[in-house]
Amino acid sequence: MNACSQSPLKNDRKAKALQRWKILKQVLTGSASSETCTSEVSVRRFSSYGLLKTQHSSTEPEGNVWYQYTAPGRPGFNMSVRHLPGKLDASTLLGFNNTGNVCVWPSEEVMTNYCLQHLEDFRDCSVCELGGGMTCLAGLALAIEAQAESVVLSDGNQESVENLNVILKEKENCAKFGKTQVSSRLICWGSDSKHEDLVGSFDFVLCADCLFFDEGRADLADLIFDILKPKGRAILFAPHRGSTFQAFRELAQKQFQVEVEENYSQEVWDLHCKLKNSNSGLYDENIHFPLLMTLTKNS
Ligand SMILES: C[S@@+](CC[C@H](N)C(=O)[O-])C[C@H]1O[C@@H](n2cnc3c(N)ncnc32)[C@H](O)[C@@H]1O
Repeated sequence: MNACSQSPLKNDRKAKALQRWKILKQVLTGSASSETCTSEVSVRRFSSYGLLKTQHSSTEPEGNVWYQYTAPGRPGFNMSVRHLPGKLDASTLLGFNNTGNVCVWPSEEVMTNYCLQHLEDFRDCSVCELGGGMTCLAGLALAIEAQAESVVLSDGNQESVENLNVILKEKENCAKFGKTQVSSRLICWGSDSKHEDLVGSFDFVLCADCLFFDEGRADLADLIFDILKPKGRAILFAPHRGSTFQAFRELAQKQFQVEVEENYSQEVWDLHCKLKNSNSGLYDENIHFPLLMTLTKNS
């Protein structure tokens, strides 16, 4: 088959492969920028359901950007959130997984929306978000709005956690925490550290788009089991991403009662159907549409 007769799918794959090599070259020659990352990797990709509104507040000299997040259905709610510039260099490529410092993924957006619509469930409860990336958006929204007892924001990436520390110190956010004790820390599943001080601590664990790490699934399930209270519940949002969602579901069934829902919110379902039917080529439910998996401990 000559180049002209290749299928559009093959051409698309070839274009993407070339794009990846171009990015790698820029990283290795030190000429990569956040634009490399956002405009060349994801500009023609679906990135948000538009459930939350963001307004640019300021840009720091190093390139970190502050946004005001609001939720159209919840007047008066807002949070100040700092995004990292999503830089690409050899250390970010070779270091700990960097996917949480590049953007807020649709699963995190949808989980934030879900939490804001179920605030009463979290009142006076202890909550921990795992793998929340640079923003832990859902955990932060609960810290501000739910009158929870405590909220821990976490990720396994040090740079994400440093950003979470800055977000938590921001005056406008602090002023809204009220009696809720809010903290951030490095929590890694699969590391030697057992997080003994957290065992049996939480009524709720939140986690968005973290089920696709093949080497981490069993450790993530174990960590969730360990840190939940006996009747605690984990709320996980993630897309299918091939067979990875199902693989985690099968693992989790050994220790938890597992429920999976597709239509957990009429608003998100309607947006999903609209995007799917638009045939724009930008929306791929396999990697974009978050399913809700709820885990309850068997004991
Ligand atoms: C796709 S990102 C999702 C980030 C955020 N939840 C979101 O949806 O925007 C996956 C996150 O998992 C974190 N992660 C990956 N492996 C981890 C591990 N072993 N322990 C803790 N966090 C991990 C990464 O640092 C990253 O922030």
